[in-house]
Amino acid sequence: MASPMRSLLADPDRYLQSFRLFLERSTEHQSMQEFMERQLPAVIASVGNGKSTINVLSVGGGSGEMDLQILSKIRARYPGVTINNDVIEPSADQISKYKERVAQASNLENTKFTWHNETAYEYESRMNAEKKTKKWDFIHMIQMLYYVQDIPATIRYFHSLLESQGKLLIILVSGKSGWETLWKKYGSFFPLDLCTFVSSADLPRMLDSAGLKYQLYELPSHMDITSCFIEGDKDGELLLDFLTETLDFAKTAPPELKHQVMEELRKPGCSEIKDGKVIFRNNLGAIVIEP
Ligand SMILES: C[S@@+](CC[C@H](N)C(=O)[O-])C[C@H]1O[C@@H](n2cnc3c(N)ncnc32)[C@H](O)[C@@H]1O
Repeated sequence: MASPMRSLLADPDRYLQSFRLFLERSTEHQSMQEFMERQLPAVIASVGNGKSTINVLSVGGGSGEMDLQILSKIRARYPGVTINNDVIEPSADQISKYKERVAQASNLENTKFTWHNETAYEYESRMNAEKKTKKWDFIHMIQMLYYVQDIPATIRYFHSLLESQGKLLIILVSGKSGWETLWKKYGSFFPLDLCTFVSSADLPRMLDSAGLKYQLYELPSHMDITSCFIEGDKDGELLLDFLTETLDFAKTAPPELKHQVMEELRKPGCSEIKDGKVIFRNNLGAIVIEP
């Protein structure tokens, strides 16, 4: 019998709801912010040398929270320079949140934003059809590579758009995270049509075979998933959807699979029990690829 489980991405509203709850319950953006403070300045130290305009491309930029942090670091390194920031983002809802964020920000002088309401692949196809190869000084793909069909081809395409001093930053869940443990064991039972259960540990193999040079960083992070263990808790169900990338996992997963996943989520490979709370290992891996 065909599985009744569907990919979370098939319902964009629920996907966004669960992603926003995930951000609330985790230190995801705080831990990225720390990376932007501590490591990013060295990464971008030479991307704009000798330029009056710096071109930045955000792939899957969401509502722009991390994008604006990146732009502030580039501006701090290159004061007075003009920045063109293009965003590829298939969710119209996320783009409108991004625009609101930009409208409210006070430190975006000399920064021009262009939003492309399309997927990474649609952008690539459109550029090819228009015979355009615009180059970029900094490209980032933060927590989005799960949603492309062909990860190596996507990395190769965007890498080919780097200027000679440019950098490509990818952030994914880490190979040392609870995500890796859960997905390695159960990913093949979850819907596989719209999401690939990939982690930063999978990238070196792909980058090595493409002959690309890169550096890896580990970012510690965690998420409180205690509510997932309260039967019928709406937030718990939303988080469980995000963890399994499955729409209504609690209601549509076969009981045995649900039982095994819940057991796994409590185990040390996924979580730590602290003060009665279940704290999931949300570690991230950042990969900086050279031109
Ligand atoms: C987990 S969110 C990350 C958002 C943001 N980068 C952040 O870290 O806060 C994934 C984002 O990728 C976008 N996305 C999904 N499929 C995509 C695709 N094929 N190409 C580009 N972006 C995609 C989603 O709409 C969503 O905004």
